[in-house]
Amino acid sequence: MRDGGVTVKSSTMSSSPRRRPQGSGYWSDASVFLWSWLRSPGATGAVLPSSQYLASAMAQVVTRYETPTVAELGPGTGALTTGIQRVLPPGGRHLAVELNPGFAQRLVARFPEVEVVNDSAAALGRVLKERGIERVDAVVSGLPFTAFPVALQRDVLDAVVASVDPDNGVFTTFNYVGAYSMPAAQRFRVLLRRRFAEVMISRPVLRNIPPAYVLTARKVRGDT
Ligand SMILES: C[S@@+](CC[C@H](N)C(=O)[O-])C[C@H]1O[C@@H](n2cnc3c(N)ncnc32)[C@H](O)[C@@H]1O
Repeated sequence: MRDGGVTVKSSTMSSSPRRRPQGSGYWSDASVFLWSWLRSPGATGAVLPSSQYLASAMAQVVTRYETPTVAELGPGTGALTTGIQRVLPPGGRHLAVELNPGFAQRLVARFPEVEVVNDSAAALGRVLKERGIERVDAVVSGLPFTAFPVALQRDVLDAVVASVDPDNGVFTTFNYVGAYSMPAAQRFRVLLRRRFAEVMISRPVLRNIPPAYVLTARKVRGDT
């Protein structure tokens, strides 16, 4: 990792068979997460990491591709990372872009198969270009969009739209049920629908603290 938070050295993919990650160590991750939230609530965006149930629901999008390239945004302590790694087919590629350098460093140690990048999700286009990736099949986001100012919501969504395969790609994120009606959450969904022709919202995943909806967006609009 380079000081100054620009780049965490990524690990490269493992050879097949893919190593399955250990259990998430949920409560140990939760304490790290809670400290991060106390220091920086806006950027961390949640008090606890996502549950394995939410992670599994979100990671399903990866399974429809043969050898997908997946960009994960805001992996935190790795809850969704674990979910993605569990279902990622052999030959798939998984990048994880995390702003918090402490989280990024933990991810590098814990997920040797994942290419961890310590940067902003808004820089996704550059991150991919530096790695010779033109488009990704799936973007899986754990970002706290509801806590973001509108400019950052737009910047990240624009970066996603420019990076995901416009016809066959998918973008997935979650909204906490309790925050669903907040103006920032509504604004985010408006921005999302302006960029994607198909936006599906799941039933609430109740086995998560707090319960959350999974949002899945497909078909990039040509007029964005
Ligand atoms: C709500 S937490 C979710 C963590 C994890 N994905 C989960 O579901 O448990 C949001 C994560 O996004 C990261 N984050 C916040 N702003 C970011 C940005 N602009 N770019 C990349 N990561 C960011 C935070 O550091 C934090 O790890």
